[in-house]
Order: sequence, then structure tokens, then C-alpha cells
Amino acid sequence: MKLNDKIIDSPEYNIERIITIETTTAALVLAVCEEKSLLTCHFGGKLDNPEKYIASGPIVKGYELPKAISTFGGSEHNSTLRVTHADQAISTELIYISHSIHEIDSNRTKTIIELRDKLHSLYVELHYLAYIAEDIIECWTVIKNNEVSNITLHDYASFELALSNKTANYHLTSFFGLWEREASIQEEKLNFGKKTLENNFGTWSSFGFNPAFLLSTEGKSHEDFGEVIGGAYAWTGSWKIDFNYNFNKLAHDRVQRELLTISSTNQSIAADYHLQQGESFTTPKFILNYSDQGTGKISRNFHRWCRKYNLRDGDSPRPIILNSWEGTQFDFNEDVLVEMMDGLVKMGGEMFVLDDGWFGEKEFTRDSIYSGLGDWQVNRTKLPKGLDYLIDQAQQRELSFGIWFEPEMVNPKSQLFNQHPEWVIKQPDRDNILYRQQLVLDLSNPDVQEHVYQSIANILEQHPGISYIKWDCNRSFTNFGSQYLSKDNQSHLWYDYVQGLYTVYQRIEKNFAQVILQVCASGGGRIDFGALKYHHEFWASDNTDALQRIYIQWGLSHIYPTIACANHVSICHNHQTGRTLPLKFRFDVAMSGRLGLELKLSDLPEQSLNFVREAVKSYKSIRNVVSTGDIYRIMSPYDTDYSILSYLCEKENKLILFAYKLKHLIGQLMPMVKLKGLNASSDYLIEEINLLKGQLPHCQQNGFVMTGRDLMNKGLRLNLAEEYDSAVIVFTCG
Ligand code: GLA
Repeated sequence: MKLNDKIIDSPEYNIERIITIETTTAALVLAVCEEKSLLTCHFGGKLDNPEKYIASGPIVKGYELPKAISTFGGSEHNSTLRVTHADQAISTELIYISHSIHEIDSNRTKTIIELRDKLHSLYVELHYLAYIAEDIIECWTVIKNNEVSNITLHDYASFELALSNKTANYHLTSFFGLWEREASIQEEKLNFGKKTLENNFGTWSSFGFNPAFLLSTEGKSHEDFGEVIGGAYAWTGSWKIDFNYNFNKLAHDRVQRELLTISSTNQSIAADYHLQQGESFTTPKFILNYSDQGTGKISRNFHRWCRKYNLRDGDSPRPIILNSWEGTQFDFNEDVLVEMMDGLVKMGGEMFVLDDGWFGEKEFTRDSIYSGLGDWQVNRTKLPKGLDYLIDQAQQRELSFGIWFEPEMVNPKSQLFNQHPEWVIKQPDRDNILYRQQLVLDLSNPDVQEHVYQSIANILEQHPGISYIKWDCNRSFTNFGSQYLSKDNQSHLWYDYVQGLYTVYQRIEKNFAQVILQVCASGGGRIDFGALKYHHEFWASDNTDALQRIYIQWGLSHIYPTIACANHVSICHNHQTGRTLPLKFRFDVAMSGRLGLELKLSDLPEQSLNFVREAVKSYKSIRNVVSTGDIYRIMSPYDTDYSILSYLCEKENKLILFAYKLKHLIGQLMPMVKLKGLNASSDYLIEEINLLKGQLPHCQQNGFVMTGRDLMNKGLRLNLAEEYDSAVIVFTCG
């Protein structure tokens, strides 16, 4: 083909209408062209006049704009919707039918665009819910089968974002990790080709990779500058996010065009979904976030949005908890637990949580990981006076009481497994594959959903004094198969399991609204916005080593709000790493989220207890600011020998700064710590808290009043002289 032929062929779109979805800073501009395709024109900062800009040609003429949702056979550059139609045809080509805009309230606008296949009665609705103040757009897709009979969905993205000729310098930040090393940060330049972040664990969403990313469009990301697009997939199971970066289809004007499409789906492996005639399929939600001020703003947007719309009681600070797990593991009795409560109450703690090991009877007692899971009756051998006695003991000490569950699982050594071997996920003709000596109950089965709900509801109804549940999940899928789903629908397992889980979450939330819920999955295996919606907090990691926690918490802070991040101080040597760290350092690290304890206080030397008591008191004085303030990260543990972050709460007129020294070298320079987000012309009183008895403040300006401008432009002089030195500093305005 000669070049000129191409130019003659060049499609010049007549745009019929523009659909703009806007937040305070961002705009997603879509266009319907004459042939009724829905195209993506722009995602980025707001445009004053998108119609005029598009009509003027530079975006439209001379090359093809990408389809807003690419289909198999309907678009060349990508395919995020792939369907086998009722007549076995495999191509799909969507055209615009209509759209509607609904103002939900002064901060939320919902846009629904209805599309249809040109040939078949397959309808696709694109939903965009814009949260204006938070710069967030929640996106999902509804696929309706109005064809003459069944269809099969092979690929079904929640959302697709096509960035056409925006930049040639995308940098992707993702959060990888596994058990005890969650949310490690990696940043890479996106080169041509496909990059996939994914997770195929079935029950876990955030081991391997957390379902979230940051995309800087102008080179390496910066905390405070530059355009960054944030994305998070709200789904508590397997998922996949693709970044498909390539040349755009045509280059009619001989200018090279590039195209990045980002799409997210819960379909990661072999998860075809069959829709009967008349049925609809709703994808999980994808949370799109926009910042023109670096990654810091992305985090503040996510946090604010989550606290307000996607977290239970997002503005009520959480209680200070002592969890029994690392203190006792399975080895406890009533006296040991009551002694732990005694220790906690003396320290000013607020809630005692009894972890694994309290249930299972007779030969199935839960004294190890080998037996008892599934049998949610109190183990009377270990706890002869039952849960009521423990709750009563807690209440006498003015402590609340919480308990551990792992309701989706069963040990083969349990009454439940003996009664219902058909309830586990497996192919009937294969042997069970055990992991942590347990199997997964098949939540696609409504009877199992009912059973799981009842196991928890029974305990909560019998013991109204329980005000907290740690909901754990310690294994993933293998031996894929559901003994409930029909032979044809085995591949529905991944989607139906998670929907079953959400059904149970919803019932628990509705019927036990006063109970605080923590999501845990061998630590941080279920940290995603899908699960968080039904919970108050997450257990960030089974790794309680404060040094490694700095990295884990730092990573998570990019996406998930601090109020939900449970951090517990544990014993030294640390159970996971064997490391010994100063008690103050351990507290200062845990206090930058939801503070808790994970030890027997009687295992601490007497002289440490005074510090613990004072630290708990200090935490209470800053808890509101830490929980609901805006995060400003200052020095990254990835780039420096320090980790410094802060929370600014305008309502309380306070900023709290946390500073940690990770490594000490002779001749090492400690840079000035420049604060962020303050009011330049206001005065701030500087007070370091949580010092050891007799310890000199690390902050040289301690006790001084300084202006916001000076603190931001010149900064703070911090003397973190030793390895694992740390400081907590309060700045009070006014
Ligand atoms: C998982 C959790 C831990 C603890 C144990 C109990 O590993 O992540 O916090 O609850 O289970 O078995």
C-alpha cells in the first residue's frame, strides 16, 4: 500500500456528541461518532471546552481514536470484551444507544452509557460514578444477554482507559509481595508490549500483587509533582490488570501515535461466564483516581474517598487492641487470657481479642492447625467457663472483647468435614490438596453461605458482648472444582465464590452493625477496596518486625487509609525476623496507624511497662489526627536511610510527624525535614512526644513556635543519631 492511499482512506470522524465525566481536577471525555462508536478522547486535567477542542481537529482527524471499550473483532488495538454469541459467532462490535446522567448528591454524579452489539441483542452499560471532591471515578460494566439463547463471556473488563498519544514516558508503580512482605514498591518504565499485574489465588486478592497501581505520565513519579493516574480494583479474589502499550492502529498523517490501554478484570484464568437469555452480569468496580500533584495527592484522594464511601465507620477512631496470637499462639487457658487482660488494662488498652484456638471439641479441639476449623463451638476443655466468662472478665476491666474466625475454611479433622465433605472446593474425583492442613468451603453454594453466616451469627447472638471479629482466610484455591455448580458452569467458581463471600459480609454488616470487623488473610492477603467496604480495618501483615513494617506500611499508605491499617507491637526477638529493635521504635512505628499490641505484657521487663503506659497515653492524644488526617510522605525508606511521614488534620489544627532512622553510618548526613501541607502564615508550636524517661528530644526546635512557611521552606532539624532512633512530633497551629 502506498502512503498516499492511507491518507485518502483516512477516517475523519464527525463527532455527534461529547460525554464528559468530571471531578474537581480531572475529566474523562468520550465521544460518539457518526457511525455510533464510543471513543475515548481524553483523560487528564479538565478541559475548558472539550467540544471546541475536538471540533478543531487535532484530536480527531488523521488517525483513529481508540474505542472506549474494545471488543474482540470490533477493534484492532485491543479486546477487553470477548463474547461467544448465541449463534456461536465470536465477533462483537458495540454502538452507542443512549446515555443518562444522574446527580446523586452535590458530590456524586453517575453517568450510564448504553451500548449494543450491531448484530446481536447484547447490551453493555458502562457506569461511571464520579466523586467530585475526591477526584475519583468508580467504573464498572453491566453486560445483558437479550439474545435468543445462552452466551459465553470470555473477557469482561470492568473498565478500559485508552490514553492516546498522551506521552511517551509512562512509569508504572505496582505493589508486589507475599506473606510477611506485603506491598513492596516497584516502579518501572512502560515499554511497548503488554504488562500484566495479576493474582490467581481465588480467595486472596493482594498477595503476589496488590490490585492497585500508580501510573505517572511524565517520567518517574514524584511525591508532590506531576500527573499521576491511580487505579485500584475492588475485588476480593483473582484479578488481572493489563497495560497494553503500542502504536495506535493508523498513522495517516505520518506522525507516530502511541496508545496505552489499561483494563481490569476479575477474569484471570479460565473463568468463562455463561449468561442465560435475559441474564445480566455486573463486573467488579474499578476505582480510577487522578492527581496533577504527584503520588501524595493520589493517596490523599484514595484515603478520603475510602473513609467517606468505602469503609465502615470511616471517621471513628479504632480501639487500642491486644491480640492474643503472638503472645500465646494455641497455648492458653482462662487464667493466661485473664492475666493478659490485666496487663492490657493497666497499660490503658481498650479491647482484648482472642485469636485462633478457642473452638473445636473433643478429638477436634483446635490445639494446632491440624484440627477444628469449621467447628465453631467453644472448646470447653481449654475454656471450661466458656466465652461468657472471658467477656465478663473483659467487661469488669472495662475492656471490649473480640474474637477470631476463619469461617470459609475447614480442617478434614472436624465435625463439619465429616458431615459435609461435599462442601469443599475440589474436583470430586481428585484427592484433597491440603494447605495449612485445611480446605476451602465452596461459597458459590448458597447452603454454604448460609452455614458460614450462621456460624458467626450464632456466636454473636449467644454472646452479645463480642464487639469485634478478626475474619481470617489462610489458604487459596487449588484442585479447582465446585460440587455445587453444574458441569457446564465450573468456570463460574472464581466469580461466584467472591459474590457468595460478599453476600455473607453484607448480612453480617446488616445484622451486627455494632461489631467491628477486621479483614485478615494470613496477614495482608485481602487488602482491597472490595473487602474494605465491609470492614473497619485490615491486618497489614503477619510480619510485626517494626523495621520491615515500615516498608509494608509505606507501600500500603499509597492506596489504603491509615485508620484501617492495624499495626501491633510485638515481642523481641521478633517471631518473624528474629530481629531485636528498641521498644520506642516499635511503638513509634505502630503508632503511625491503628495501634495495637501482640504480646503478653508479662513478657516485657517491668521497666518497659512505664514506657508502654505512656506510649498508649500519647497515642490517644494523637489518634484522631493519625486516623483521619491527610497523609504527607516526606522521606522514603526506599530512597533514603530514613522514613518520614506526617498526618495533617485541619479540623484539629495539628500535624503529627513520624521519623525513623533505618541505618546508621559514620558521616551520614541527615537532611532537614521539610514539612508539607501547612498553612504558610500560621504559627505552629512544636512538641516532641513519646520520649523515653529522661531522653532528650531529637527535634532541636522542640518547644519553639515557627511559621508554616519556615517549616516548609527551611524545615526541621532532627537529630536521629543512632540506628533505629525515632521521633514523634506534634505541630499545633494557633
Ligand atoms: C493467620 C493470621 C494470624 C493468626 C493466625 C492464627 O496466620 O494472619 O494473625 O490469626 O492465622 O492461626
